[in-house]
Amino acid sequence: MAEAKHEIDRLTDMLNDYAYHYYVLDQPKVSDAEYDMLLKELIALEEANPELKREDSPSERVGGQPLEHFSKVQHDTPMLSLSNAFNEDDLRDFDRRVNQNLGHEATYSCELKIDGLAVTLKYEEGRFVLGATRGDGTTGEDITSNLKTIPSIPLRLKEPVTIEVRGEAFMPKRSFTRLNDAREKNGEALFANPRNAAAGSLRQLDPKIAAKRNLDIYIYSVGSILDRQIPSHHEALEYVNKLGFKTNDQHKHCKNIDEVIDYCNSWLSKRADLPYDIDGIVIKVDSLADQQELGFTAKSPRWATAFKFPAEEVVTTLRDIELSIGRTGVVTPTAILDPVSVAGTTVQRASLHNEDLIREKDIKLGDKVTIKKAGDIIPEVVNVLVEHRTGAERDFSMPTECPSCVSELVRIEGEVALRCVNPKCPAQIVEGLIHFVSRNAMNIDGLGERVIKQLFENELIEDVADLYKLEREELLKLERMGEKSVDNLLKAIDTSKDNSLEKLLFGLGIRYVGSKAAKTLAQHFETIDKLQVANREELEAIDEIGEKMADSIATYFEMPEVTELIEELKDLGVNTSYKGPKPVAVTESSSYLFGKTIVLTGTMEEMSRGDAKTEIEARGGNVTGSVSKKTDLLIAGEKAGSKLTKAQDLNIEVWDEARFLQELEK
Ligand code: IVH
Repeated sequence: MAEAKHEIDRLTDMLNDYAYHYYVLDQPKVSDAEYDMLLKELIALEEANPELKREDSPSERVGGQPLEHFSKVQHDTPMLSLSNAFNEDDLRDFDRRVNQNLGHEATYSCELKIDGLAVTLKYEEGRFVLGATRGDGTTGEDITSNLKTIPSIPLRLKEPVTIEVRGEAFMPKRSFTRLNDAREKNGEALFANPRNAAAGSLRQLDPKIAAKRNLDIYIYSVGSILDRQIPSHHEALEYVNKLGFKTNDQHKHCKNIDEVIDYCNSWLSKRADLPYDIDGIVIKVDSLADQQELGFTAKSPRWATAFKFPAEEVVTTLRDIELSIGRTGVVTPTAILDPVSVAGTTVQRASLHNEDLIREKDIKLGDKVTIKKAGDIIPEVVNVLVEHRTGAERDFSMPTECPSCVSELVRIEGEVALRCVNPKCPAQIVEGLIHFVSRNAMNIDGLGERVIKQLFENELIEDVADLYKLEREELLKLERMGEKSVDNLLKAIDTSKDNSLEKLLFGLGIRYVGSKAAKTLAQHFETIDKLQVANREELEAIDEIGEKMADSIATYFEMPEVTELIEELKDLGVNTSYKGPKPVAVTESSSYLFGKTIVLTGTMEEMSRGDAKTEIEARGGNVTGSVSKKTDLLIAGEKAGSKLTKAQDLNIEVWDEARFLQELEK
């Protein structure tokens, strides 16, 4: 027994030290294999002697039992937000206010503003006892069991101090990409960005999920420390670092605002190379005595501000404008650019949307243009640098004929787009085929744009039914098609025959029928035979199917060639029935939100207002725009204004975001 205790203690200390070197210092001491072996040894000993297992055992990191719900945590000191500075002037204003209030010149600690989610961690005599989210700033949620799975959060500190620290939990870019790749393969919804992924992971009731998500943390401030005088913020960071916490080593102590501005500017370009996302720089008055003197406004400290990055813009040359024909015949002009790196990726094309936009921006071929990524994702031409024109630039005019089939392009009334209306247009057919095999449609692996084009050019496919008639021998004759890839391709095509009806419906590319409507139709009619004979009234009677869509569906199925195609698909063995679960009727008992009239106001941290609306409606609630006596519930995010006051006046129930999220978890 004594021996087991000794061994468990020894292994626990050793593994914690290895993990500290690996995750906090980024200086591994042993190989992964050796670490895993020792951990296995420890787990075996702990299983044999559960009473000897230590609270700070590394085996705690795998995630304990799932919770029923998160309990609320009242913050001892509120978790505030920061005021913003968007440019140099804002920064100088901030500096002026600070110096005026203090009566002397402050020095600043500058740090990266990590784009994750704020958490607070409490330690008693060196033991990690509580970890919570920010919530509404006053009340957060106890997510201790999820936070324990983050390997860079120490379970026991190097000194037995009682301390509260705050930091940003985040998901590194690489882990995010890997997670989304895996989710895409499994057909799961993708996370929009690393911040959402981190927040989503820490909001799971089952800590085993968080444990698998490769989360990390940087500690950026010390709440309360007992019995210790620390003069400055940068020394506080050094101190927590010594206790075993991970702090970000890019912080800098700046003597004056000029140095602060240089620091901010230097990160405008360097940020792309960081292995994690940042959305700005946090500037804090360094002296803690100065901080205390400056104090807080209702929402944020007067001693700090956040410099927010502008969307990165770069200049490049627009070489050409290429036209592409979409599945529905719409002609879209695309700018072909000299390759240039923007916000972390190389951009060589940017959609110009339509002819009007080209005219509005006065774009000519050969122009120098400014590019940015809208929402940091989709490349966009911001403007033309007219002053850089040499005279060699050429005007661009949209063609009058389809670049693919040479039939005349038409401008449909009320639309900005030019359209090719030839149903036999090869470009449209190819786009339709690409759509048919895409992920949300028939999801045929190995059949991307390139292979579809190859098959089409070699006259092996003309319509979607032809995909199911492809023969091994023919495919083997094609370039870059080996035995193995042909076999895999045929297998994937064959597997797609079993798809549930909604995938086929979406794949057919009926105008206005997206994947969501396809699902609704499949659930409602269950077979394509019943859908085919449905008339406009029957279609319109379905929730979510409007007049335009009903008309489009009916028109589609009235076409004799469509009837023929569907018969052909059936003969080829393609399933045309719905296979998923029947939709569950939302009933009174399923959610508190059922039947309630709900107003959303303020900004939410974790979801957009649109998503919140969808979630409420899925639970039978009704979202309206303004607060009145008929309102049952107000959900108030941050910076809620007059709607909140009005709701309070009318004695209407008010929830914060955390309470709302809790309801959604149910
Ligand atoms: S200091 C009084 N430092 O940015 C608030 N915040 O609006 C003091 N953040 O939600 C915050 N990196 O989670 C501070 N190095 C950093 C930060 C940081 C990210 C987040 C923080 C908060 C938001 C501030």
